[in-house]
Amino acid sequence: MREGVEELIGEIKALLKEKNALMLAHNYQRDEIQAIADITGDSLALSQAAADSDADIIVFCGVHFMAESAAILAPEKKVILPRYDAGCPMADMITAEQLQVEIDKRPGVPVVAYVNTSAAVKALSYICCTSANAAHVVDSLTAESVYMIPDRNLSEYVSHHTKKKMEWWDGYCPTHERLTLAHILQVRAENPGSVFVCHPECTPEVIDNADYVCSTSGMYKFARETEAKTIIVGTELGILYRLKKENPGKKFIIPSEGLICPNMKLTNLEDVLESLSEEKNIVTVPEEVRVKAIASLERMLAVPRDY
Ligand code: 13P
Ligand code: SF4
Repeated sequence: MREGVEELIGEIKALLKEKNALMLAHNYQRDEIQAIADITGDSLALSQAAADSDADIIVFCGVHFMAESAAILAPEKKVILPRYDAGCPMADMITAEQLQVEIDKRPGVPVVAYVNTSAAVKALSYICCTSANAAHVVDSLTAESVYMIPDRNLSEYVSHHTKKKMEWWDGYCPTHERLTLAHILQVRAENPGSVFVCHPECTPEVIDNADYVCSTSGMYKFARETEAKTIIVGTELGILYRLKKENPGKKFIIPSEGLICPNMKLTNLEDVLESLSEEKNIVTVPEEVRVKAIASLERMLAVPRDY
């Protein structure tokens, strides 16, 4: 451990207790952040954990849209994003104004918004989805056609698993798009007997080559259950922390050096301590936006969870 790190961790833990605060870390956060968080998980599970807890303060180690979702679901709590500049380039690819133009072109067509969107965009959408439930959410709608935002890769993937007519916005995750088919073919050739699991934010040609496609939470389950001893993982590097800890007998390979989300890596222990002690970098959502955004999140939460 770095010199001073133990003291830093001690101070954070003491402050969390003193302030009745809960520390959440997304599955892509730095190892040292995941190691001390009260809960690690995917974006939606963490926001739900924030809403369910009786903490007064939520320290959300992730990116801006995730802290915003927590603020939408738990308006009575103070939600701290330790690095206020930690955004998600994909969420920033569509604004509420741009979405309104698309809505006006398609009267009566419901908008399905991936949770990787701003609160203002969620407020304009009919229903939200995550990478774990996107096809179920689309199928739950009575409309024949849907418009999905902002990820072209997740949308195309869902379009292959539903009978609905789908159109979508042309956004993407720069991190997942850095993974190419050439990377997969090379790592597969070097590791006979391995299996390849990837996130649906990967490109269609990468997805077509995968043995299994799922959200970050789905990957922990897949890793636990597969008989394969070597697993190639097509998502952000931070996922390795828990995969390795939970499966000591298995080998995990990240197939490209590009699978690092710079925004997810911004937050360090010093940021957590500083933001919590000063209670700064509070994420809030205007009430008129929040009540509309929560409606689209709640419609998603009402979809039966048989996935
Ligand atoms: P999860 O919804 O699986 O947590 O993923 C969020 C994300 O940002 C993926 O790149
Ligand atoms: Fe956004 Fe991609 Fe980073 Fe996830 S990995 S937070 S989608 S940029």
